[in-house]
Amino acid sequence: MKFFIDTANLEQIKEAQDLGILDGVTTNPSLMAKEGITGKDNILKHYKNICEIVDGDVSAEVIATDFDNMIKEGEELASLNNQIVVKLPMIKANVTLVFSAGQALLAAKAGATYVSPFLGRLDDISTDGLNLISEIRDIYDNYDFSTEILAASIRHTMHIIDCAKIGADVITSPLSSITGLLKHPLTDIGLDKFLNDHKKGN
Ligand code: E4P
Repeated sequence: MKFFIDTANLEQIKEAQDLGILDGVTTNPSLMAKEGITGKDNILKHYKNICEIVDGDVSAEVIATDFDNMIKEGEELASLNNQIVVKLPMIKANVTLVFSAGQALLAAKAGATYVSPFLGRLDDISTDGLNLISEIRDIYDNYDFSTEILAASIRHTMHIIDCAKIGADVITSPLSSITGLLKHPLTDIGLDKFLNDHKKGN
């Protein structure tokens, strides 16, 4: 399973890259605004900075909602760096805001590179987000679709484990959910004991 980080924060992207497990980055207009990145030139420059930090795919979302401008904006984003994956249904596309198996089926039939089901937002409205990931996995396997399931809207570490059990191809997550995978109290207790025993032995 690939690990993408879901942020536009350069420090966090660098930290995840330095962990040695980062396969890419996803962003959206809200995540850009959260970092105070506004205005077209600054946004484009920020995408370039992200591409310099990571080796893998960097999803960049268009703002336009009409066909002509989506294509224009998408081509501009794609020309920044060959790591850029434009979030719109065309070119190398990450079809975003997916909330049903039917939407995911159509995205795969249309040849999307990634489909992004938002599992946390479904959980937020008392609907089982992981069940959607599972349904999409079954459908894609039935027909050998090559579209990758990019589980988005991850809210905590167990979401990552559950997505791995289901077979999501990619998760995109806040850093805290990824670093949560490293932690176990028995590891800390065991390490303490090893170090103390080592000191006693010396
Ligand atoms: C990533 O591509 C999505 O935009 C992101 O995971 C949405 O997460 P949220 O539901 O926590 O806003």
